[in-house]
Amino acid sequence: MRALEQFPGPPGHWLLGHATQFKQDGTDLDKIPKWGEHYPFAFPIQFSPEIIFLFVHHPSYVKPILATTGPKDDFGYRFLIPWIGQGLLVTAGQKWFRHRRLLTPGFHYDILKPYVNIMADSAKVMLDKWEVYARTGQTFELFQHVSLMTLDSIMKCAFSCQSSCQTESKNNPYIKAVYELCYLVNLRYRVFPYHNDIIFHLSPHGYRYRRACKIAHTHTDEVIRERREILNNNKKNQDDAQKKRYLDFLDILLCALDEQQQGLSDEAIRAEVDTFMFEGHDTTASGISWIFYSMACNPEHQQKCREEIQQVLMGKDTIEWEDLSKIPYTTMCIKESLRMYPPVPEIGRMLSKPITFFDGRTAPAGCVIGINIYGIHHNPTVWENPKVFDPLRFLPENTAKRSPHAFVPFSAGPRNCIGQNFAMNEMKVAVALTLRKYVLIKDPDHIPKMIPRLVLRSLNGQGLLVTDGQKWFRHRRLLTPGFHYDILKPYVNLMADSAKVMLDEQQQGLSDEAIRTEVDTFMFEGHDTTASGISWIFYSMACNPEHQQKCREEIQQVLMG
Ligand code: HEM
Repeated sequence: MRALEQFPGPPGHWLLGHATQFKQDGTDLDKIPKWGEHYPFAFPIQFSPEIIFLFVHHPSYVKPILATTGPKDDFGYRFLIPWIGQGLLVTAGQKWFRHRRLLTPGFHYDILKPYVNIMADSAKVMLDKWEVYARTGQTFELFQHVSLMTLDSIMKCAFSCQSSCQTESKNNPYIKAVYELCYLVNLRYRVFPYHNDIIFHLSPHGYRYRRACKIAHTHTDEVIRERREILNNNKKNQDDAQKKRYLDFLDILLCALDEQQQGLSDEAIRAEVDTFMFEGHDTTASGISWIFYSMACNPEHQQKCREEIQQVLMGKDTIEWEDLSKIPYTTMCIKESLRMYPPVPEIGRMLSKPITFFDGRTAPAGCVIGINIYGIHHNPTVWENPKVFDPLRFLPENTAKRSPHAFVPFSAGPRNCIGQNFAMNEMKVAVALTLRKYVLIKDPDHIPKMIPRLVLRSLNGQGLLVTDGQKWFRHRRLLTPGFHYDILKPYVNLMADSAKVMLDEQQQGLSDEAIRTEVDTFMFEGHDTTASGISWIFYSMACNPEHQQKCREEIQQVLMG
């Protein structure tokens, strides 16, 4: 702790540090921006006498840290290693460098292009399963549906595994094992005695973890063995492999050679396959679930996205590679959701060299850094009104005004997310096909409790309802003529009379014309909404006398007495 004395921070318990302040009740993430008000840029947080993080929540501090290829911390990533091995996510040094170079071609545009059709097919299976909820108006557990969909799509795209996990998840031992592993790793983070390897190993959960690892590894080994056989065997088989519709990630892994013509060992390939299986589905599932939630909370943005998507798809029931670059508004909404709800809310580093920040303070070598992506994305010195969903923040002219390290859902620098284009494509496909078919509605009584569990999840679900978009549009189309100007015209006098009654009581008068202006403006939204709207407009006018005066002058000019 003494090494970090240049960095004051929130007071903690003398023995337990700040551990007891993280209550796992959905409020933990918002503590960072709150503490950040008193401790700008960075502050230390202690989880146990040995585990002290320097939490960083400002772009200027994050920049020099992410510019390095330094190792990950040995707390956050350790519990994953028995499962995903020394894959790209956790490895460091020369090994990381060599693997990253070998794997980068696997994310080239030419490789990603044919994946879009596979992603669309996986999304459609999920959306078909939602028909029952649209019919019955039930809320449902979104994350589970979405994560099965993203698992299905990564298995098909990356490994050409013809899984039917979305419809047969209960019977597939590999899918069950992946689910079990995600659950048990999360549990291990939460239960402090399980941080000790021996205690966890001897516990029933440790036993379940080993059993699930074994099932996952057996599956991965089998997939690799079969493909290696195909690639190594006779010419005919190679031709068959090439006849496949697309080159998958496993082909790239098996064929990758460095300058010395050295490929990856079986163990290294398995680590990468397991890493991509995990990183490639849980993160995008979180991203997509929170985007759906953001859309439901912001129906006007949802509708704008839908109109943009309908225009691009022009009646098609699917989305193609070429369409993905033609939906800029939807892309801005996806980015705004990634800002407000970053799927990977925090990442860790261990400094191999000291870093001196712009303000002269130094974090020493060996210091464990918690890069709080959620804190950066909600830092009020960087983002105006960070709690407000505003996709226009991502207009190119607004982005240009910010530090590139202000928005880092995929991290940044040499160890940024290798799968970010894959992920953005998958999110666009899922959002486009969902909004094409359904309207997402928020359950008004439900407030999700955000919790970091490797990825950002909700403790109590997202509380979403879906309604059949076609039915909604049909009803809307039938009802729209009821709001034609010709129908509305005679209502104006009626409304003016109602408004006059109100005004008379208050001995304050607006002219008929002024009332008509209000009526015209707020006609469409029913009575409760207009009552709310008008009351708040009057309130805004009262709070802003200079604007009130400007309006008055404008109205007087138009009415000319
Ligand atoms: C919305 C979806 C995703 C988000 C928000 C996300 C975010 C991130 C972040 C923040 C990191 C840095 C981790 C760290 O420094 O510890 C990372 C690394 C990584 N991601 Fe993603 N990711 C997403 C999807 C994917 C997908 C789809 C794949 C694979 C298909 C993938 C593969 C990886 C790998 C292998 C790394 C380690 C890269 C390295 O250290 O060189 N990610 N991701």
